Amino acid sequence: MSALPQIGTTHTATHWQRFSVPYEFPVVFTEGVFDPENPALRDVLCRLEPSKRHRVVFFVDDGLVGTGASRTALLESITKYAQAYSASIELACEPIAVPGGEKIKSELHFVESLQHTLFDLHIDRHSYVIAVGGGAVLDAVGLISTTTHRGLRHIRIPTTVLAQNDSGVGVKNGVNLHGVKNFVGTFAPPFAVLNDIRFVMSLPARDKIAGMAEAVKVSLIRDAEFFGWIERHQDGLATFERTAMAQLIRRCAELHMRQIGQGGDPFEMGSARPLDYGHWSAHKLESLTRHHVRHGEAVAIGMALDARYSVLAGLLQPGEEDRICALLEFLGFNLWHPALAKTGASSEPVILEGLRDFQEHLGGALCVTLLADIGVGIEVHEIDHARMGQALQWLRARAEPG
Ligand SMILES: NC(=O)c1ccc[n+]([C@@H]2O[C@H](COP(=O)([O-])OP(=O)(O)OC[C@H]3O[C@@H](n4cnc5c(N)ncnc54)[C@H](O)[C@@H]3O)[C@@H](O)[C@H]2O)c1
Ligand SMILES: [Zn+2]
Repeated sequence: MSALPQIGTTHTATHWQRFSVPYEFPVVFTEGVFDPENPALRDVLCRLEPSKRHRVVFFVDDGLVGTGASRTALLESITKYAQAYSASIELACEPIAVPGGEKIKSELHFVESLQHTLFDLHIDRHSYVIAVGGGAVLDAVGLISTTTHRGLRHIRIPTTVLAQNDSGVGVKNGVNLHGVKNFVGTFAPPFAVLNDIRFVMSLPARDKIAGMAEAVKVSLIRDAEFFGWIERHQDGLATFERTAMAQLIRRCAELHMRQIGQGGDPFEMGSARPLDYGHWSAHKLESLTRHHVRHGEAVAIGMALDARYSVLAGLLQPGEEDRICALLEFLGFNLWHPALAKTGASSEPVILEGLRDFQEHLGGALCVTLLADIGVGIEVHEIDHARMGQALQWLRARAEPG
């Protein structure tokens, strides 16, 4: 028998605890996810225990529920779906409509009330919470699911372009607090994601356009071939042609998944954020305009700005920034907003404060992704404010010639 270690002595002993947890979850691309003849959702629910009847709670974005006669159509189709697969699915309660958009993330009583619902229903750690909605609903329901009982199984059914091609396939959840976006949140991969193109087709044009910014973004930093594809299909994309939209979403989601899964930092421990190309100014512009500018709209402007800066810094070939701007404008983006011209006490553009905020968010050194080429992101740790001011002037001159 080995002797027990001596304790009570003054020396320090460090024992290293080390383990890793593999994560895997399916991202399913489908159409008509609640059609009774479509088994995709049933299949993901049954992936671990095929013969069990699973308890499920649905939270549905009220932006999808509509008004009047159509009000209950989606909720009813979910109930009918559960009936069609009653051997596998037990609804813990009727599907619950929740506020869509930033409202659900900004008013904390919604978090409390949804969590109360899970408590009342005695939802356990092997039950499912399914969020159907835009990125905001997914973020809020994801937070509730991943904190209740320290983590329930949560499934995302994203319904906007942005949520299907970017946020919904990621590993982050969160709500806003103290006026700070995503101040409270978790890194917690979902159990599964199901992307249904039909939801996207019912979005207002403005939201369809906004979500495409993330596809241009990921093509610019990672995949020149995809950028060329977007250019070649810009007519179909600008008119929201179904096949083109579906392909764009799918490729964009794949590239985001690859970056998260293979980029080496899924839970963002380091300072680099390659997927945040164009985002330092976008976040600032969103808050300067109190979210009147959508996330994707702000990202489009941020990408144009950083493309011009990349040229001025000698990183990107002159002319490529024009190509990027032309594509974004063709897709329907406006690349200037008056809030960009706002100056602060130091007579510097207020938007440049976004660099400091971004650095604070990273938690260490500044790390901004710029472009060395189309399809090639490059990290830099310093931004010359005067040069960024020139890039802003350039953007303004393009929008307001003469
Ligand atoms: N977790 C992440 O990694 C991550 C990444 C990027 C963005 N986000 C978050 O995502 C949110 C933005 O998400 P979003 O762009 O999807 O917008 P959103 O969730 O704010 O939804 C916009 C509006 O569209 C409505 N809506 C949703 N689906 C619809 C549909 N199919 N038809 C008609 N209306 C519909 C909603 O009710 C809402 O009013 C922000 O809160 C942002 O912080 C999260
Ligand atoms: Zn984004």
